[in-house]
Amino acid sequence: MIYHLEPINAKEYQGDLLFLYGDEVAERTLPLSKKEIEYVKSRCAEKKDFMVTFDRLPYHLYFLSFDSEKPGPECQEMLRRSAADLLKRLEVDKVENLAVTGEGTLPEEMAAFVEGLSLADYSFDRYRTTTPYHLQQLTIDKLYLSPEEFDAAQRLWNRIYWCREWVNMPVADLNAAAFADELAAIAADYKDVHCTVMDKKQIASLRMGGLMAVNRGSVDEPRFVVLEYKPKASEGDPICLVGKGIMYDTGGLNIKPEDYMQEMKSDMAGAATMASVLFAAADNHLPVHLVALLPMTDNRPGFNAYAADDILTMYDGTTVEVVNTDAEGRLILADAIAYAARNYHPRLIIDAATLTGAAVRAISTFGIAVMQQGAENPLTMLKLVGEQVYERLVEFPMWKEYDELIKSDYADLRNCGTTPQAGTITAGKFLAHFAGQVPYIHLDIAGVAYFTKPQHYYRAGASGYAIRLLYAFLQMQDMK
Ligand code: BES
Ligand code: MN
Ligand code: ZN
Repeated sequence: MIYHLEPINAKEYQGDLLFLYGDEVAERTLPLSKKEIEYVKSRCAEKKDFMVTFDRLPYHLYFLSFDSEKPGPECQEMLRRSAADLLKRLEVDKVENLAVTGEGTLPEEMAAFVEGLSLADYSFDRYRTTTPYHLQQLTIDKLYLSPEEFDAAQRLWNRIYWCREWVNMPVADLNAAAFADELAAIAADYKDVHCTVMDKKQIASLRMGGLMAVNRGSVDEPRFVVLEYKPKASEGDPICLVGKGIMYDTGGLNIKPEDYMQEMKSDMAGAATMASVLFAAADNHLPVHLVALLPMTDNRPGFNAYAADDILTMYDGTTVEVVNTDAEGRLILADAIAYAARNYHPRLIIDAATLTGAAVRAISTFGIAVMQQGAENPLTMLKLVGEQVYERLVEFPMWKEYDELIKSDYADLRNCGTTPQAGTITAGKFLAHFAGQVPYIHLDIAGVAYFTKPQHYYRAGASGYAIRLLYAFLQMQDMK
């Protein structure tokens, strides 16, 4: 989609046009008859959000009214969703170019509306032989948005598009090596992003026992990608962003039953998310030092696949008894988290991972399950930001009692709990072990990374959920 910021005179504008009304209907701005205005006014009086369309003009005139009396995140989210509904209507009406203006609309409300439109307009097209409908051009009334902020927002949306594209790609066309190559190629275009790609040999010599074990059943090599963004203005220790990069999760020898395997190409969404966040930060020159650590492999039952009962020695020396080869994400993440803690002296480690089905069962597709260790304050901030951008977090407890559930009879830890209960927490506990003393936040994005059905401004498929959250969080960091 191509965006323009221009002054719009609604009464004279000759093209498909949308009004965003958060206020009393102002007759002077509407190219409508008295009767039509009366109708719109009576609908407004109902104090419900609604949309009407006038089709008698040589162009479409859409009129979207929303309740501006309670401004804030809820209202903005409603506008994102309304934008997605509008897009469906635009498709029916075959609208290619749309102009948007408003009345009684706050800049952040206009921004949310445009964000919804932009996020909704994405679809995964690269394997289609015919191009589906997209809005071609969007002209927004200059009154509402600052060009700098709008440019920055567009860059963020484009990174969300990247993330969705990577996650939607099947493993046959995006395995660990291909994804690593792609990230390295992109990083080469950024002055202040440095990319290191470690191959199987290097991973082995680092003694990353988790990543090596999960990779054993695969014919494709693993990769460990480290992206570092170090802007000149940044001071002090970095924030490390660790992302689960399971390019495909069959479950390994503990193979997933058919219904559960589908969509497991999305098991690298954590890695895609963290790479996208880092590039977005670099695009918009956020003055915060970031390191993204992305362990990548697929998880398969090959001839030499790792097996339950195997005991692994992880990067930091911890030994782990494998109880289930389908609890693979925490094994590759443990190595990456320990690597971050040991080599970067981070002030905070955050990971994002499609880690447990239990997280989906607990909270469905409406938010992220989050846990922390020694990072109470950053998490308070992150939760707050989550409410603002409407990518919400619900905190799970890290009580010491759960530690018992991941103790092994033969090794330091077992890779899944002694009971299936609290599966999301035992996974978080397992990971927290490898962060040691470093403040640590774990995001289980299993419920939100990939949607089976369309949900508001998300189509079915990869969502890019958590990118806006983390970006907004990093934006707050540089205010200190
Ligand atoms: N990648 C899955 C988790 C998952 C499930 C993500 C559904 C998205 C949707 C993960 O590797 C996994 O298989 N977890 C197991 C852990 C169990 C074996 C302890 C699970 O949640 O069943
Ligand atoms: Mn698994
Ligand atoms: Zn997995």
